[in-house]
Amino acid sequence: MTAIEEETAVPEAFPAGFVWGTATAAYQIEGAVDADGRGPSIWDTFCRMPGAVERGESGEFACDHYHRWREDVDLMADLGVGAYRFSVAWPRVLPEGGGAVNQRGLDFYRRLVDELRERGIEPFVTLYHWDLPQALEDRGGWRVRDTAERFADYAETVHDAIGDRVSRWITLNEPYCSAIVGYGEGRHAPGAREGDGALAAVHHLLLGHGLAVARLRALARPDQRIGITLNMSPTVPASSSPADADAARRMDLLVNRQFTEPLLGGRYPADLADVFGRISGFAFQRDGDLALIGAPLDFLGVNYYYRLHVAAAPYDQPDPALRSAFDLGTRTVTPPGARTSGLGWVVEPEGLHQTLTGLVRRYPELPPVYITENGYGDDGALEDTGRIDYLRDHLAAIRQAMTDGVDIRGYFCWSLIDNFEWARGYAARFGLVHVDYDTQARTPKASFRWLREFVRSRG
Ligand code: FCB
Repeated sequence: MTAIEEETAVPEAFPAGFVWGTATAAYQIEGAVDADGRGPSIWDTFCRMPGAVERGESGEFACDHYHRWREDVDLMADLGVGAYRFSVAWPRVLPEGGGAVNQRGLDFYRRLVDELRERGIEPFVTLYHWDLPQALEDRGGWRVRDTAERFADYAETVHDAIGDRVSRWITLNEPYCSAIVGYGEGRHAPGAREGDGALAAVHHLLLGHGLAVARLRALARPDQRIGITLNMSPTVPASSSPADADAARRMDLLVNRQFTEPLLGGRYPADLADVFGRISGFAFQRDGDLALIGAPLDFLGVNYYYRLHVAAAPYDQPDPALRSAFDLGTRTVTPPGARTSGLGWVVEPEGLHQTLTGLVRRYPELPPVYITENGYGDDGALEDTGRIDYLRDHLAAIRQAMTDGVDIRGYFCWSLIDNFEWARGYAARFGLVHVDYDTQARTPKASFRWLREFVRSRG
């Protein structure tokens, strides 16, 4: 056990005003993919590709939240949380990605937001959680600059519809996953394995964020707060060899620094060209882009699940000109004896403390932070003691980071209910509430009762 783990076994009480919530995403819970004029997204398409998703599953029905949302809001009220982070499905609002607005899609979110507010639950709206309208992918997707412009238009459309009742906005969820897992690794939609295309996607996602922030600022009410959510995974060299240290540095660039540096520092990391110079000329970067991308944020959303232990490995593609942006000459390893989740993810709460304190050290002007996702995946047991241990230990790490000077304003557990876990399908379950996908019955797990009691007594 490390020093932090020992110290953090029992979390101290959290200050008054600390926000407690749960998080979900549209494609993972809504289902109803053809309802009320929704257009197809890249995930509808991807799920039909043979072998893309385990057991050929898809979000077609998911948790049927589109019809059962009232019951899900009841669950949140019962849990006793004061906030809910969910995402708006771009293809429900603009089925073609741009152009004609689908009012019925907007109405769904308007009803949801009204109900939340009536129950005293503050909506935190994520504008993009990976479900790009297929029509935009057909025109190049995030590889092309136009998609960033379309995203800003879409942000404004959603703001016009619900901006009078939503004050917390998150532009993007985990641009790393959209760009690198989607266009570089090919494990997520649209399933591409590209070099320059994936790096262009990184830049255009960040640019879309910057354009949307500028647009929402111009429309903002005084109490409005705008941020972005990044997944952060500190990297640890698997051994003391210089090759592993270098591999961990490349992975840190890929996963963390190519997002934090432009957003919080207004520049791309100096080693971006060293690492990727042979697969991209970065022709997609234009003057003025970084000023938009690095404009001040009201908060940073941090999603944390695990640290990455990294070793040097042969490149998959020996010819650098043909290499994907994910092919970095690295492999991730599970350290011997490591504690792991039901999905085999390494459990290291000290990695969250390290992430949070590291951000403040690197960016002294860091805006307030919300932990916008953190959670534990397993096969769905109702007596989910592994999840309780995980939540307790990560809350302790957060509380310790607050003591150590990080301004952390809230915590959103991933997830309220079991849901469609992307390429892993339905077998990987993260919910505080179990979902029976045959009957859509919701059953709170032991962790639900634990978190309710924790929030009541120490939150
Ligand atoms: C994050 C995603 C979220 C969920 C969790 C387990 O990367 O943002 O949608 O799948 O992982």
